[in-house]
Parts: sequence; C-alpha cells; structure tokens
Amino acid sequence: MRKRYLLATGLLAMGLACSGCSKSSGQLDGGIIRIAYNQAPTHPHYQALERAGERFKEATGGRYEFLIYPNEVLGDQRATLELIQNGAIQMAIVNNAMVENYNKDFSILGLPYIFDSQEHQKEVFTSGILDPLFESTKEEGFEVMAAYTAGSRNVYTRKPIETPKDLDGMKIRVMESPTMVAMMKYMGGVGTPMSQGEVYTAIQQGVLDGGENNEITYVDLKHYEVAPVFSKTQHVMIPDLVIAESAYLERMKPEDRELLTQILEDSVEDEFNLWNEQIETAKESAREHGVTFVDVDIKPFQENCKKLHEEATSGSVFGKELYDGIRALAR
Ligand code: GCU
Repeated sequence: MRKRYLLATGLLAMGLACSGCSKSSGQLDGGIIRIAYNQAPTHPHYQALERAGERFKEATGGRYEFLIYPNEVLGDQRATLELIQNGAIQMAIVNNAMVENYNKDFSILGLPYIFDSQEHQKEVFTSGILDPLFESTKEEGFEVMAAYTAGSRNVYTRKPIETPKDLDGMKIRVMESPTMVAMMKYMGGVGTPMSQGEVYTAIQQGVLDGGENNEITYVDLKHYEVAPVFSKTQHVMIPDLVIAESAYLERMKPEDRELLTQILEDSVEDEFNLWNEQIETAKESAREHGVTFVDVDIKPFQENCKKLHEEATSGSVFGKELYDGIRALAR
C-alpha cells in the first residue's frame, strides 16, 4: 500500500514539476507514455494496449514507448483520471462510468441493455458515431481515444437472482456513477458505489450482499470465494475507455498524433478478439472453483430498466441523438 502511495505521489510531483511544460508550445519528438491500469497484465485490455504500444514504438522508429502500470499501482480509476488531468501521466484505461462524472452524456453508453449483442457493440465502437462524445471532455484535460469491450456484467451473491424481486433489499456494489446506482435500483436492489479494489473485503465482511461484473474480473479478483452464485442478468455492456491527456496530444507532431490515434482505433478489434479468447477460460476457471451459474430470464430486468433509458435521454438533445444512433446500429 505504502509503495503504491509513494509511486503515485512521486509521479504526481513529477507531473506537477512538468505541468508548465506540458501546456507549453514545446513540440515533442518522442518519450515514454505512462499509462495507468487497474487490472492484471493478462487482461485483454492490457494486452491490446501493450500490442498497440509495440506498434506505435515501431512506427515511430523507437521514439515513443508505452509504459503501463497495472493492478491499481497508481491508484483506483478515479485517482488515475486525476493524474491525467494533472499531467502526471499521459494515458489510462478507465471505465465509462468514471467519465460520466465529467460529461453526463457518457451515461448513454453505459445504459443497461442498450447493446443487443457484442456485434452491435463492436459496430458502435468502430463506426465513428462516438467521436463527438469522445472529444467532448477536452476542456476537462483529457479525451477518449478508443472504447474497449468489457463483456456483459452479471450479478453475483450467495443466492440465485432470477427476478428483480430476488434483489429486494440486497446491497450490490456498483461502479461510482449515478447511472450505475439508478440501474441497480431499477433492477430491484440497492446499488452501493465503491471502487473495485474494496469489493472483496466488503462482501466478505457482510457490508455488501454481492457485486456485479463480467466473468474475467470476477475470476481475476477471486470474488467467487465470497459470492459463489453468478446469475446471468447480462444487464450492462459498459465499455472501458482509453483516455489521453489533451495537452500531451497537442504537443505531439501532427503525424505522430495521427499514428497514435489510428493505432489505438485499430486496437479495438484486437481487444474484442482477445476478449473472446479469454472469456471461455474465465468461465471454465469459475466452474472449477465451484461457482454456480444461474440462467436468468432477462425480460423483467430489461423492462424495468427502460425507465432509465427515458431518464438518460430526456435532458439532452445530443444524448438523445447519440442514443438513437446507437440503437439504429442494432441488427
Ligand atoms: C470491469 C471493468 C473495469 C472496472 C471494473 C469495476 O472489470 O473492466 O474498468 O474497474 O469492472 O467493476 O470497477
């Protein structure tokens, strides 16, 4: 813990010392791009990004290099987003739920059941319709370079969840955004926002009745030890976003920036493939650890969550257009 704190504060000091220069006009000719990540180096997100880094290094004749810090060593996603805003690091992978706190329209991308399938989601991520949304956080000091799939999320507790009624009064950890809290309410439970690293102990100590996540993270973090019943509610396919510091991007030579943008865009396809390779292994591993998978009729959950779709799209013309654009790409 102390080591993590020192590393994070060291970087912060470095960034602060450099914040003047990061906003200055000095053009970059290369450098180390420091990237924060909250999960393991075996994770599809990490691997896709690592490969993108290798491509970028090669394409720039070794002038640029990615340095990815995994496993929350730089802090949780909220903290790493702030490190980017301070110019202490240049990139991070954070969940869409975090970015929703900077621009509410991101909530559209994280609505329960907005994507019909993985193909639909891939189509949306690669179609270009998200570009205006992804540029919208520039004033906050960062922008979104790519969206990665994180599969679909499901509820896990100590008992089967088959209907919204089964979640009555149950405290389920959700990611830290108003949409995630509202989603759990419409699903029938009580959403408790918390960062990922605290969930295991909170369930173990009875502070929470369960969590919700995809199979890869469920297995990687050994949450099956404290919540062994995994109910396939498949309630949300919320993406993870590769974000970068705007001031840093502006200091890159236009041709280098274009290369980076292209390579990161191309990594989306790669990440989907890596995801599909790893998801089966995660399910198998869960079964080996005694997990009970419960099939769920998702219709009642879908029906209840429709109200959230209305709420999320009612206050924003841009949000409504985005919503319609995403739905129009469903097959
Ligand atoms: C997934 C997602 C992460 C997120 C995590 C969470 O694993 O990929 O970005 O941090 O869920 O539940 O917090």
